[in-house]
Formats: sequence, structure tokens, C-alpha cells
Amino acid sequence: MTLDDVDAIAATAGPGLIGGVMVGLVSAKALAMATGKPLYAINHLEGHALSPRLADAGLHFPYALLLVSGGHCQILRVDGVGQYRRYATTIDDALGEAFDKTAKILGLGYPGGPKVEKLAREGDAKAVPLPRPLVGSGEPHFSFAGLKSAVLRAKESGKYADADIAASFQQAAVDCVVDRLRIALGGMDGVTALVVAGGVAANSAIRAALEGVAEQFGLPFTAPPMALCTDNAAMIAWAGLERFEPGHSDPLDISARPRWPLDPDAETVRGAGVKA
Ligand SMILES: Nc1ncnc2c1ncn2[C@@H]1O[C@H](COP(=O)(O)OP(=O)(O)O)[C@@H](O)[C@H]1O
Ligand SMILES: [Mg+2]
Repeated sequence: MTLDDVDAIAATAGPGLIGGVMVGLVSAKALAMATGKPLYAINHLEGHALSPRLADAGLHFPYALLLVSGGHCQILRVDGVGQYRRYATTIDDALGEAFDKTAKILGLGYPGGPKVEKLAREGDAKAVPLPRPLVGSGEPHFSFAGLKSAVLRAKESGKYADADIAASFQQAAVDCVVDRLRIALGGMDGVTALVVAGGVAANSAIRAALEGVAEQFGLPFTAPPMALCTDNAAMIAWAGLERFEPGHSDPLDISARPRWPLDPDAETVRGAGVKA
């Protein structure tokens, strides 16, 4: 393709580290201005949220979404493009962050998710007793800070093999996700599917567990192909296409946003250890 074949320019406008977001958005603005094509400023989280529809044409609104990445851990109902209702979020760490910190504790390097998953295949998921924070609580929120600390103590005790720690951590994470999702789905009406997106959606153990939850609720389960799980440009282009409507583009003076919640009405939820 050449630029002439393109109908519009889409770029991430937030949320995220503002320096990188600005560089991308300014480049897209320059392209839009030079070509006279419309600009679509995309929310990175919306890119993740709509990415399953890129590969699955049969996925219709509204659907339940588990959005799990390095910076976010949320359960949402996706009612349409730009229409999101948040049911749960994390009160401390995101799930991907917990994978990355576990990888660091085990000396595996970054990004930790795929490395922890690989090591976990060689370990015993029952070997290390680890907590399941918030499991059993009536609100569907997440917490992973205590799990991460328990992983650190297990490693420092010198009693366990790294593979057993990785496997036990991953099992604890799966148990938390399944329990929290069940609570959220119990209070969510009218959804047509259960969907997972974001970097952690690449994890096979999580995908397998979610399939079980979907079955329990009588819902089809959809996960994007691996390449569309971790951050990628195709999902931003796709969100641009979902938003594409002649005359509804964004102005060229639109700003990059470090914070940009999908559900602006959702309340802030804080953990006990987090300063206000
Ligand atoms: N196979 C996997 N298992 C668990 N976590 C994974 C896996 N692959 C990637 N991740 C995690 O996904 C996160 C990256 O998510 P991504 O959406 O690409 O980035 P960001 O959070 O910056 O938007 C990282 O925390 C990474 O460890
Ligand atoms: Mg991401």
C-alpha cells in the first residue's frame, strides 16, 4: 500500500508515558496534515478492547472483557465503540506487573510474562503455598501486591525451586482471575461473549481457565491471536477503522493524555497500602 490508498490516520493519544505518546501523535498529525486525511486519536485501552473483533467478525456488542496488561487489570462491559462500563479494577498492581515482578525476583528478565509462563511448565503449581488476594470478596476487584510479596518471601526462603515458584504463582494468578471474573459476570446483564485482551491475554493458562468460566456462564469465549495481545499497531489501526466515519475525525490540535480511563464515571478504588 501507499499513503494514497489510506483513508485515515489513526494514532494512540493516551494513556501512557507522555513522551512516547506525544512523539507518535505528533507524527500522525504531521501525516494527516500533509496528506489532508482525517486523524483519529485512539485510546490505547480501546485498541486492546476492540482488538478481538479484528480477528473474530462474529463478536458482537455487548461483551464482557477482561483487560489485563502491564499497566491495567480491569473487567468491563463493552457496549459499543466508545461505550464502556467498568466493573472491576486493581487496588494495587496490574496482573502483567505481577508477572514482571515475579520474573524479576526469579532473575528471568523483562518482559517477564512469557518467561514465567515457560518456566511454570516445568514446575509444580501446588509446591509453594501462596495467597489468593481478595478471593471470596463480594466486589470483583483485584489485588496482586500481596501475592508478589509472598513470591519474594518464597524465593528468599531458599526452600523452593524457581520452576515451582513460577508454577505456583501462575496458578494463584489464575485462581484470582477466575474468582473475580465469576463475581463480575454474576452482576453483568446481557453480554454475548467473554473476551480477554491485553498483553497477559497471551498466557495459555489464563486462556484455558477463562474458557472454563465462559462455559460455566454459557458464553462463547474469544481471545485475540497472540500477535494482537501484546501492544501492536494493528489494534490501533483497527480501533481507527471502528471509529471511522467521514466527518467524525479528531481535530489536529487534540492533546496527548497521560490518563484516559475507558469508563470516566468509574470510581477510584484504592488498596490499603496505597497513599491517597
Ligand atoms: N505469556 C504471557 N503471560 C503472562 N503475561 C504476559 C505474557 N505475555 C505478555 N505478558 C505481560 O503483558 C504485559 C504487557 O502488556 P502490553 O499490553 O503489551 O503492554 P502495556 O501494559 O505497556 O500496554 C507485560 O506485563 C507482560 O509481562
Ligand atoms: Mg497495552
